[in-house]
Amino acid sequence: MPFADMREFIALLEKRGELLRIKQEVHWDLEIGAWLHKAIRTKQQPALVFEKITGYPEGYTVAGMLVPNSARWALALDFPENISWTEMIAGIYERCRKPIDPVIVPTGPCKDQKHTGSHCNLLEFPVPRYIARDGGRYLGTWHCVITKDPDTGERNVGMYRLMVHDRNSLGIFICPGEHAHFHYEKWKARGEPMPVAITLGQDEVLPLHSLWSWPYGVDEFAMAGAMRTAPVELVKCETVDLEVPATAEIVVEGHMSLTERRPEGPFGEYTGHMGALIKDGPVINVSAIHPPQESDLSRSAQRPAALRVRGRRGNLTRRRDFRGLTHLWSSRHHCGLRAAQQPGGDDRHLDSQDLRRAGFGCGKFRLRARPRSDGQERDRVRC
Ligand SMILES: Cc1cc2nc3c(=O)[nH]c(=O)nc-3n(C[C@H](O)[C@H](O)[C@H](O)COP(=O)(O)O)c2cc1C
Repeated sequence: MPFADMREFIALLEKRGELLRIKQEVHWDLEIGAWLHKAIRTKQQPALVFEKITGYPEGYTVAGMLVPNSARWALALDFPENISWTEMIAGIYERCRKPIDPVIVPTGPCKDQKHTGSHCNLLEFPVPRYIARDGGRYLGTWHCVITKDPDTGERNVGMYRLMVHDRNSLGIFICPGEHAHFHYEKWKARGEPMPVAITLGQDEVLPLHSLWSWPYGVDEFAMAGAMRTAPVELVKCETVDLEVPATAEIVVEGHMSLTERRPEGPFGEYTGHMGALIKDGPVINVSAIHPPQESDLSRSAQRPAALRVRGRRGNLTRRRDFRGLTHLWSSRHHCGLRAAQQPGGDDRHLDSQDLRRAGFGCGKFRLRARPRSDGQERDRVRC
């Protein structure tokens, strides 16, 4: 049976003894991040709900670590608990052979309250800054970003990090090649800002699904329906022509500007490395916020369940012309190196161009370096 929303999932985790409610006061600035950082390293990997956050009234909570491992994925997706990753992925693809169209419903819990125009205030939520080197407070770390192709009307659901700039604007980082990026290019060609809707705190299958890469043009809500074996209920947004899951805790509506750009990042990525500072990232101007009306889990935001999972292991050896390397990372979207002990004391972050300059073969997804013939002086590789 699919879960209607995040609250149902949290209730089940609590019943199973897999959730810790943190009642002592924690600060949104770094403290929540530190708790999550610790929790991901424990054997039990409990889900955490922070109930008292410095500077915020009672009822403003933050949840994290809901799906940090395969057993919790299996629970959210209603697969047997001891299923292997391979079987689970195969099971998901099997389900997705038959997409289930979403249904539009007249209203939903996310419609309980609405703030528009100057009443929008993203800072009303206890949005955490997770680690000291994060460029700001990150609202979008485990969420859905919904956009539409202006020509075909096809919807996309993706997960792209979102940093709070101020009360009513957000920075977003969308890698070129992601579907929302194609949409943005199309809106740009029309000379119109791109309508965007962001949802937080919904049925766990939706954020899990939003990080899935389907072929361009597939209605991703239909694939989400297939994944959760029941249609996704959608409600219409009010200031943008988009639909969002009706049971989301928080909905943010806005437009991605064609002209306004502000620094965004860096951000401690889920793979364990620091994502780049984007000097002129696009800005979303918020036109409406639907906060939840009540109680227990109101105003929650989530850190990615896998706060610090390890990325793919790379293979790197030190070269004469490129000393001082200490870290390598590689993921689908990022790869890079870090060299320690630079003047100024801080580590230096290097991107793929630095790598090429240094003579390393570097593809988008893979880093390779020829081992030294004596096999000595291997760099420490942390990825
Ligand atoms: C926790 C998490 C955070 C992510 N953050 C970003 C991000 O900030 N920017 C980005 O372009 N992709 C990010 N991704 C990857 C995309 O969500 C993923 O590629 C997804 O397939 C995009 O959807 P699309 O294929 O419909 O564009 C993230 C993935 C995860 C798991």
